[in-house]
Amino acid sequence: MTEIARIGIMTVSDRAFRGEYEDKGGPAIEAELSKILISEWEAVAVVVPDERKQIEEHLIDLCDHEKCCLVVTTGGTGPAVRDVTPDATEAVCDRMMPGFGELMRTESLKFVPTAILSRQTAGIRGNTLIVNLPGNPPAIHDCLMAVFPAIPYCVDLMEGPFIETDEEYCKAFRPKHAKKK
Ligand code: MTE
Repeated sequence: MTEIARIGIMTVSDRAFRGEYEDKGGPAIEAELSKILISEWEAVAVVVPDERKQIEEHLIDLCDHEKCCLVVTTGGTGPAVRDVTPDATEAVCDRMMPGFGELMRTESLKFVPTAILSRQTAGIRGNTLIVNLPGNPPAIHDCLMAVFPAIPYCVDLMEGPFIETDEEYCKAFRPKHAKKK
């Protein structure tokens, strides 16, 4: 039986958490993943304020208890005083994956000169890949399209479920020897 991929979607925003505005980031990630993925998956969504301790606790919960193979965060990656998402991510990860942030900033620079203001990163905690995206909803599409081709194979290597993408929309790359379990 194929394992269903559980994917954590974390919105980090004081105002969305307080209900001062509607969370647009979380639903935008869910909509984007629905376009990318053709294999079965389910979302575990959470809205968290820009508080490092709370972000860390929720990341740990999504990785260790909810057993997500992938957690995508949005928001809190910039240089503002309360932007602490990458710091919380680094604190809970065993190993960092710096290529993700490098590629997302490079890609985002094609759209906005302020792309370099994002400190977004990625890392691995146990069997979970955590990827930070900026808070601006269009950034979610730009950044996910850049890095997603490498995510299914990364999840394979972390012994997670076999993730399949819609090749017309987002073609994942796996080395020839990588096989479906
Ligand atoms: N990347 C993309 N693709 N599109 C954007 O609009 N905004 C930038 C940057 N990266 C942006 C982007 C800006 S203005 C900032 S301040 C940083 O992401 C951090 O955003 P965050 O604090 O909402 O995470």
